[in-house]
Amino acid sequence: MQVTRLDITQLRSLRAVSLAPAAGINVLIGDNGAGKTSVLEALHVMAYGRSFRGRVGDGLVGVGERALEIFVEWQQAVPQRLRRAGLRHSGQSWEGRLDGEPVSQLGQLCAALAVVTFEPGSHALVNGGGEPRRRFMDWGLFHVEQTFLPYWRRYARALKQRNALLKARAGGSQLDSWDHELAEAGEAITGWRQHYLERLQPWLSETNAALAPTLGEATLTFLPGWRRDEISLADALLLSRDRDLATGFTSVGPHRADWRIRHTGLPQGAALSRGQAKLSALGCLLAQAERHAADRGEWPIVVLDDLASELDSSHQRRVLERLIQSHAQVFLSGTDIPPTLRDVAADFTTFHVEHGDVRPG
Ligand SMILES: Nc1ncnc2c1ncn2[C@@H]1O[C@H](COP(=O)(O)OP(=O)(O)O)[C@@H](O)[C@H]1O
Ligand SMILES: [Mg+2]
Repeated sequence: MQVTRLDITQLRSLRAVSLAPAAGINVLIGDNGAGKTSVLEALHVMAYGRSFRGRVGDGLVGVGERALEIFVEWQQAVPQRLRRAGLRHSGQSWEGRLDGEPVSQLGQLCAALAVVTFEPGSHALVNGGGEPRRRFMDWGLFHVEQTFLPYWRRYARALKQRNALLKARAGGSQLDSWDHELAEAGEAITGWRQHYLERLQPWLSETNAALAPTLGEATLTFLPGWRRDEISLADALLLSRDRDLATGFTSVGPHRADWRIRHTGLPQGAALSRGQAKLSALGCLLAQAERHAADRGEWPIVVLDDLASELDSSHQRRVLERLIQSHAQVFLSGTDIPPTLRDVAADFTTFHVEHGDVRPG
């Protein structure tokens, strides 16, 4: 995929910005607070319905403005086609358009535009709470497995209903039907997630060996959210019912799923340093992007916010070399052009970001 136009209005300090990115590497240069990350957030919001710095309602709309607007035009390679997506989001409500038609679910925009983002908070993928790791698996499935999303929605709806009944201390027969729904959708989601991580493993081994050989071999372990090797989800829900009635929430199931990454280069049980966690997370994200490329026949857009302050120069070089070889379109930001980029890239496109304005050059 290649973004050919990006228009942003009222997103943080960006008033009205329009960029025509090029193929290959695009670099956003500007001082701290100039608005570089905000430009990258715009792409991320279109592709995920939220920013990597929180929801749209958490301060993304420019102060004093009612809504932000994002327009993205991109060349899709498979099948070849020029695509356009527009989003107006107030934090509470939104309206979207895809290829000239209104969309009824944000997921339609997210499924159309594939973006993989590495940013200063990405270490949380390996050393933070489970939510980003569940989102990581689901992003992969969402883009590849057409039937994943309907099951995911069924599960989310049933979970909400079951939790509401638990809080109301409802009786067995009402819970039975939601347990049935949760078990059916939940087993399907879990099967896909397990398969996704298993198939990601060879990609991860490769990216990890190329990017961070000092960490050793990287292995993923899937944690389904209940003792799946012993019992079905239906049985797990039934067994946990008394406890769930006492606490008012569902304690087992795919909403509690997770995964772990282990590196043979580190002593068993040793915690990753922040820098190692970043490398580990970057390995996972690149593996995911490469696998997406293999499955879909084209690379997602790769966003690297503040690359030079996140990685030392030898690791920057490794990532950049790999991305240049892939011919992916990349957006990276920094206060200056990273010297490593000059070393490895014959050619790149620069944009200057200043006081919420962006100009080519
Ligand atoms: N809701 C908002 N409205 C207006 N300005 C904002 C809002 N949220 C953040 N900002 C400002 O936007 C600027 C953009 O910051 P950011 O994109 O993080 O810059 P950079 O990545 O270049 O350091 C900051 O100066 C910040 O104070
Ligand atoms: Mg920034």
